[in-house]
Amino acid sequence: MSRLILLTYPIRSMKNKVWAWLLSLISLSALADEIPALSIRPTLEPPVISANTDLKQVYRVPVDKFFVPPPVAEIPATPLGEQIKQGRLIVIDTQTHARQYVGNGLNCSDCHLSEGREPKASPLWAAYVKYPMVKERTNQVVTYQEQIQACFLTAMDGIAPTLESPTMRALTAYSKWLSTGIPMNANMPGRGFAFIKKSKDPRSVHGQNLYKARCAFCHGESGKGQKHTDGKGYMFPPLWGNDSYNRATGFGKTKTLAKFIRANMPLGAPYSLSMDESLDIAAFIWTQYRPYDPKKSMFVNLFIPPSAGQN
Ligand code: HEC
Ligand code: HEC
Repeated sequence: MSRLILLTYPIRSMKNKVWAWLLSLISLSALADEIPALSIRPTLEPPVISANTDLKQVYRVPVDKFFVPPPVAEIPATPLGEQIKQGRLIVIDTQTHARQYVGNGLNCSDCHLSEGREPKASPLWAAYVKYPMVKERTNQVVTYQEQIQACFLTAMDGIAPTLESPTMRALTAYSKWLSTGIPMNANMPGRGFAFIKKSKDPRSVHGQNLYKARCAFCHGESGKGQKHTDGKGYMFPPLWGNDSYNRATGFGKTKTLAKFIRANMPLGAPYSLSMDESLDIAAFIWTQYRPYDPKKSMFVNLFIPPSAGQN
């Protein structure tokens, strides 16, 4: 199957479009039995379920494959419930509900899709039960709250809320509630992003063409996204530029970004890009300007550019 996908490359570069198109169709249909069909539910309001409802048509993800957190309507009417609701608001509208900590135009749910529920978009329910954990890169123990602080510093290009701040308490309460029923320390399918393995080095030039064809109509030719018509916040978030995540984020690594892209983008057509195509686009996005790494000095940021792009 993967051989079939690779076959499309030389043919595409020969610009024989009909053949490329036919072959992608074949490779897509070969993919079909490997990747579960995702049926997308338009809103996150609790669905009406009767005895003969096909659950796969109701939830955004196949219920027999991935964990589905409780519906929003089930948040209890208690003081804890209030914190859970507040945590949810922070995740979906960080710009309003944690404004003081945010330095760019993003919300948590721009990357942790569907309110932090979407499998393969680093869902918070799969993460919560795994902490404290040892991070491979640094070999240090990191708590759940420290990981959230890291996302504020890097993904949100902002400052970290303290551990006892109402923001942190609300995010913790929401994440715990999302993971209702999952045993501590369980390795949940759907944690993190998609699997990526490169068959050749990423090519940012090819990535640029793919970006124009598959991404630009939402995120813009300039990658700066599209604001809501009232000018407040983004309908389509920026992928680079001042309002995007900074160099220190997980997405600063081409491979991590490619993992996200393959499983989630273009929005509504997950897994429609091959692993190499996802890496090509990620390499192209990596070459664009974005805010500096706050942990490095201005001198290092200006004169010693990061080299992790091809990782
Ligand atoms: C620009 C995209 C982006 C945004 C915005 C973002 N994150 Fe993340 N987040 C990531 C990435 C990438 C990782 C994985 C980090 C890694 O592997 O180094 C991650 C990891 C996490 C994890 C741990 C996941 C796991 O399975 O271990 C949590 C929890 C988390 N983020 C919470 C948040 C919260 C809360 C916010 C909003 C304040 C937020 N993130 C905003 C990209 C983002
Ligand atoms: C149909 C519109 C649409 C298309 C096409 C699309 N995106 Fe997105 N993208 C979104 C939306 C909307 C979000 C925010 C998540 C959400 O609201 O569900 C997003 C989020 C993202 C993010 C994380 C947030 C950020 O600002 O960095 C990345 C990275 C991304 N998209 C990359 C891509 C790439 C690469 C492509 C092309 C392969 C693409 N997108 C195509 C709509 C789109």
